[in-house]
Amino acid sequence: MKVITGLQPSGDLHIGNYFGSIKQMLNMQEENQMYMFIANYHAMTSNQNGEVLQQNSLKAAAAFLSLGIDPQKSIFWLQSDIKEVLELYWILSQFTPMGLLERAHSYKDKIAKGLNSSHGLFSYPVLMAADILLFDAQIVPVGKDQIQHVEIARDIALKVNNEWGEVFTLPKAKINEEVAVVLGTDGSKMSKSYKNTIDIFTSQKVLKKQISSIVTDSIALEDPKEFSTCNIYNIAKLFLDKTQQENLQERYKKGGEGYGHFKLYLNDLINDHFAYAKNEYENLIANPSKIKEILEFGAQKARKTAQKTMEKIYAKIGL
Ligand code: ADP
Ligand code: TRP
Repeated sequence: MKVITGLQPSGDLHIGNYFGSIKQMLNMQEENQMYMFIANYHAMTSNQNGEVLQQNSLKAAAAFLSLGIDPQKSIFWLQSDIKEVLELYWILSQFTPMGLLERAHSYKDKIAKGLNSSHGLFSYPVLMAADILLFDAQIVPVGKDQIQHVEIARDIALKVNNEWGEVFTLPKAKINEEVAVVLGTDGSKMSKSYKNTIDIFTSQKVLKKQISSIVTDSIALEDPKEFSTCNIYNIAKLFLDKTQQENLQERYKKGGEGYGHFKLYLNDLINDHFAYAKNEYENLIANPSKIKEILEFGAQKARKTAQKTMEKIYAKIGL
């Protein structure tokens, strides 16, 4: 299957992102032709500071590469390195009824949250449609908030195909229903907007601070504790197999250990799990030209597919 995903270069990745989406992407990479790109054109809708945008894109690329995106197996590039996507975006705009965009929840939510309404923000789904259709993607793995955008891409593709014949593959959203929501340090959904995250590529100092902020009850050290409602346990279990989970449950039931001990244990689990990735990340961040080289290697492959699609479109639109 041809699978595409756009990765937002905003903010630092947390373990909710990792267990909720990145891990699935890494698994899919083994059996599918994955197209993955850093969506820096999309990021412009919320930030127009060039230096920040460039830094965030490099950081995001380093993060995904160090977590296991393999540029030999997957096609991995920076969105703005394939200019064809903007050309297709304009052409698709002619096939996009205003009503389709006016109904977009994501646009309405962003305006409700106080973002300035702009044409960029409004037409964001058309650019996303161009991303998907340019590469003939069949499957688009997304979180729930992005399903409607994939449906918009499909609607636009249908309209074009009605007019011009079978130009585009019709894409489908894939939602991973099995993935549980990862809870944050305060017990609600982990999200950077709630400031309750545990970040992957952060310093030991910040990691310690984030872990120590995990909210617990105040049961005394010597007393038995309930693991299933404990925020520390619920994060720790993501890193543990069944036997290890049972061992930790026993420690809770036995008493004699306080939440401070469990926090230290969680700290070690996180450090061990991401030690390799963190090291890779530091090496890449110290060598931005290496990151750019990898992205350019991906762009060369992506461009071939993009140009093939555009040849078909040029013939239809008279270019
Ligand atoms: P945030 O809520 O921190 O802004 P994003 O919206 O950027 O996170 O999420 C990027 C990806 O990570 C999405 O696919 C989303 O489904 C997944 N994700 C984010 N937070 C969680 C979570 N707490 N549990 C599971 N998956 C998550
Ligand atoms: N809009 C997506 C998000 O906010 C990112 C994205 C841009 C994307 N283009 C895409 C995702 C194409 C899948 C396919 O997460």
